Amino acid sequence: MIVEMHPYIGLVEAIKQRRAARSFSGDRIPEAVLQEILELGIQAPSGFNLQPWRFIVVREQENKDKLQACAFNQRQVGEAPVVLICCGDRRVTQIEYITSVIHLGEDVGIMTDSYANYMRSSIPEFFANHPSFETIEAWTNRHAMLAVAYMMIVAKSFGVDSCPMEGFDSAKVKEAFQIPEEVDICCLLALGYAKEPFKQYGGRFPVDRVCFNESYSEPFKFS
Ligand SMILES: Cc1cc2nc3c(=O)[nH]c(=O)nc-3n(C[C@H](O)[C@H](O)[C@H](O)COP(=O)(O)O)c2cc1C
Repeated sequence: MIVEMHPYIGLVEAIKQRRAARSFSGDRIPEAVLQEILELGIQAPSGFNLQPWRFIVVREQENKDKLQACAFNQRQVGEAPVVLICCGDRRVTQIEYITSVIHLGEDVGIMTDSYANYMRSSIPEFFANHPSFETIEAWTNRHAMLAVAYMMIVAKSFGVDSCPMEGFDSAKVKEAFQIPEEVDICCLLALGYAKEPFKQYGGRFPVDRVCFNESYSEPFKFS
């Protein structure tokens, strides 16, 4: 269910205003806003609609302190009212899970027998051959990060700041938060209200530095 809350910062402004916050005030995120961030974040697309992202919502100070200790003592982990441990579950390639995605499609009325059969045969084949990625962790990360990106933008549209983090010791976080062996941690996401002064914009390379025209060897230009 997606709750009906109205963001007050539009999409373009939310994208422009979002900065990785390094320090948070003690203000709590209203439960309805957190619900929007999570509900809308998981509307991200995924290959075969397998939705491999998983999130541990950490709000207890004791647990945030524990997480901070696994994250090179980054202060935003202890300060932010909510920190998500953003994970990808490699077990989504198992047939029982694929069947649950087929059932989901049936529940919303879009699944046909032929598409269900296609999923049962094509998905295991795709993961056996993995033509577009080296490891399943790379594949789950690809998806978890997409949901994280959605969450950061949704959060900003409700005035909530965020900080994505790769500065953590994965083995330590897995042990401390009972994360199964088949689940990988993609990143941490701190959510809350940034303390002033706000971090400065670090700039971005221009489009013609990062986009190419038809092949990697030709520069891109707007016509
Ligand atoms: C995958 C990823 C990992 C990051 N890890 C950290 C981190 O561990 N600690 C931190 O303070 N910032 C981290 N950042 C934030 C980046 O430093 C920041 O996004 C970048 O400097 C651009 O700044 P901006 O997001 O404010 O535009 C990370 C960002 C991403 C996307």
